[in-house]
Amino acid sequence: MKIATILGTRPEIIKMAPIIDEISRRDIDQIVLHTGQHYDEEMSDAFFRDLDIRTPDYNIHVGSGTHGKQTGLMMKGIEEILLDEKPDIVLVQGDTNAVLAAAMVASKLHIAIGHVEAGLRSFDMTMPEEVNRRVADVCSAMYFIPTIDSAINLLAEGYSRKNLIITGNTVVDACFRHLDIAKKRGIEEESLRELNIDEMDNILTLTMHRAENVDVKERVTDIIEALKELDDMNIIFPIHPRTKNTLEKFDLFDELNNLDHVHIIKPLGYLDFLQLTSASTLILTDSGGLQEEAITLSVPALTLRYNTERPETVTAGGNILVGSDKEAIVFNARKIIDDNEFADKMKNAVNPYGQGNSAKLTVDAIEDYYARGLLNIVAPEDIMTSFTRNMKNMDENISVEEFERKENSLVHMVFDGENMVFPTDDLNLNGMMISYDKRK
Ligand code: UD1
Ligand code: UDP
Repeated sequence: MKIATILGTRPEIIKMAPIIDEISRRDIDQIVLHTGQHYDEEMSDAFFRDLDIRTPDYNIHVGSGTHGKQTGLMMKGIEEILLDEKPDIVLVQGDTNAVLAAAMVASKLHIAIGHVEAGLRSFDMTMPEEVNRRVADVCSAMYFIPTIDSAINLLAEGYSRKNLIITGNTVVDACFRHLDIAKKRGIEEESLRELNIDEMDNILTLTMHRAENVDVKERVTDIIEALKELDDMNIIFPIHPRTKNTLEKFDLFDELNNLDHVHIIKPLGYLDFLQLTSASTLILTDSGGLQEEAITLSVPALTLRYNTERPETVTAGGNILVGSDKEAIVFNARKIIDDNEFADKMKNAVNPYGQGNSAKLTVDAIEDYYARGLLNIVAPEDIMTSFTRNMKNMDENISVEEFERKENSLVHMVFDGENMVFPTDDLNLNGMMISYDKRK
């Protein structure tokens, strides 16, 4: 079996690292293909080093550009490599343009796609990431899903339960594996070392790069106004290159940088960043990965967004959405800083993203699919005369698997009262309302 991993940005490298490592450990043939979307040393190479994983076999060097140009160049480059390498499965992660490009190319080449971190939905189609993740899900054969909530999103969109594999999120693997390594190594980046965070109280780690925040002057201005009021915090801001560019364009960089309590530094490598986040009182961010890491590290998070495709972090109690609303940012930050009981409740939120064994579960499932021939994408040969979608109120003790065998069907959605539940093979359907597909 040959596995091709396609990635292009900082969070993809971090979240695919545990899987690349697991594939190497099992001696499975693999290639790693970098689109080159992120190319600065501190946005790309630093992570291969810090996470100690196989460096890319290919780099397409697409660089920065508009969505259309970037995605088009990626598609061209990825197609050439896949035609040559002929992997059995292509793995993509998350919701970046690499995911969109790779999913469209591989599906048309009839190469199976495994979408890592599938099923997330912000329900906000103005976000490029929402478009990317939805298209990737349409094209995929295997779905590696962080939580049951995300699996239910896919069921509600009509995906077969058989290909939904709940693994947790590999960010937990990365976090758990590297925190000790980071602490033993110590801080490498000089700008962070100079801040002497071991001796510092009230650290607020800030990251933002989301287009809908940093490309909109009013929103960044509101966020900066909130930061000004939090002047008893030590705000450490490893700045994303996109954000640096737009703050400079809006003439806001110096205003922020001149605040005594705000420390703008270069983007950090993973080991340095883990030391910073784990020492923080509070994380203020619009990052996807950081919402997950915050709850993994038991650090309260305020998310600078109006919606999130990670609602589990909010319902668990570890994350609060504050948008770019100055009042909401300051009010919630003050509560975390001043009210220990409130902060402790947030810290004690249960991490919904698994135990740190996502990479193992992912590669186990890939090996199983390969052994069962399920990675061969071939045109159907059975003549299908009818396809119906049915509903039924169940009043007998029967498991999902038994029902499917008896009715020659596939159980799709299951409602226990008002709640949708995930139809595992052994779930007893008695008393539930189900929908199921029947093919003849
Ligand atoms: C991309 C992803 C986003 C992800 C983020 C992770 C898409 C659509 N967006 O956003 O989902 O959350 O990565 O960080 O795929 N730049 C540099 N050096 C670099 C990379 C970028 O200077 O190494 C600058 C360029 O000016 C570029 C801008 O940052 O135009 C934005 O980069 P881009 O890759 O287009 O989007 P991100 O905001 O990084
Ligand atoms: N991160 C990092 N150094 C930094 C900022 C972030 O290592 O200076 C890591 C962070 O730990 C998380 C990931 O980058 O794992 C998040 O990436 P980003 O916020 O760029 O993208 P998103 O997750 O929003 O797609």
